[in-house]
Amino acid sequence: MNKILITGGSGLIGSLLNNHLKEKYNLINLDIKKPTNHSQDTIIGNMNVLEDVKIASKSADAIIHLGAVINVDSDWELVLKNNIESTRNVYEAAKINGVKKVIFASSNHAVGLFENDSPYKEIVEGKYEGLDPKNIKKIDKNVPIRPDSYYGVSKSYGEAIGRYYYETFNIKSVNLRIGTVLNSDDPSTSIRHFATWLSHRDISQLVEKSIIHNVEFEIFYGVSNNKWRFWDIEDSQKKISYMPVDNAEEYRK
Ligand SMILES: NC(=O)c1ccc[n+]([C@@H]2O[C@H](COP(=O)([O-])OP(=O)(O)OC[C@H]3O[C@@H](n4cnc5c(N)ncnc54)[C@H](O)[C@@H]3O)[C@@H](O)[C@H]2O)c1
Repeated sequence: MNKILITGGSGLIGSLLNNHLKEKYNLINLDIKKPTNHSQDTIIGNMNVLEDVKIASKSADAIIHLGAVINVDSDWELVLKNNIESTRNVYEAAKINGVKKVIFASSNHAVGLFENDSPYKEIVEGKYEGLDPKNIKKIDKNVPIRPDSYYGVSKSYGEAIGRYYYETFNIKSVNLRIGTVLNSDDPSTSIRHFATWLSHRDISQLVEKSIIHNVEFEIFYGVSNNKWRFWDIEDSQKKISYMPVDNAEEYRK
């Protein structure tokens, strides 16, 4: 891997990754807005336009696909254009340009309705009484999808179209069900974050290892080594040596 396209590269995670990966890779970004937190090359364009994605992904070895509307409550029209049609454009442009791998920013909201059930419901509300964090049954990649919103649906769909392009066109696909990445990198602002937080260092590690390791099609959870985490990371530890270094508990006041 040498040249990498990052879609949504002007956003929070895109900026982190630009700064983390810039010494090792030749980076190009595609975004509707200019970056303010990094100085890597950015093509101003719209992922909703296939031609824009084709131009941006020319001669790329891999695409890190982050561009999306990110509010869980986003309405259908916005999700359709920026997440659903755009993700198809990313895979289609990858096929046309012979890009070997796509790393897709999926989301925990693809399985968000598990948080209506015990013990996850209690954990995200901080009601820990009677719970042993070591014995929480982890949600892994084998559970049924349970999207909690149109946004969550768009992320499940992104994983599905990744599978289609992998099996049919041999484009490798790593789907990261990201937890909570915060601008401040401080999880103490919400009780839920003590379970769901993914630190800046850990997302950077997770994406870099997804690039380096030779994987075919994978779904991994993106979460730090939080005491109250309830998503599986054993699979990514085994397959790409993901070893998160942060734990939200250290921020509890
Ligand atoms: N931050 C989190 O906690 C979190 C959690 C789960 C998943 N994710 C996913 O990770 C990705 C990045 O998230 P983020 O927090 O950096 O979000 P962000 O909003 O900071 O960045 C998204 C970027 O995508 C760009 N974009 C949106 N629509 C576009 C389009 N049609 N064409 C080109 N660019 C477009 C935006 O301009 C923005 O710069 C998203 O796909 C998000 O769903 C983030």
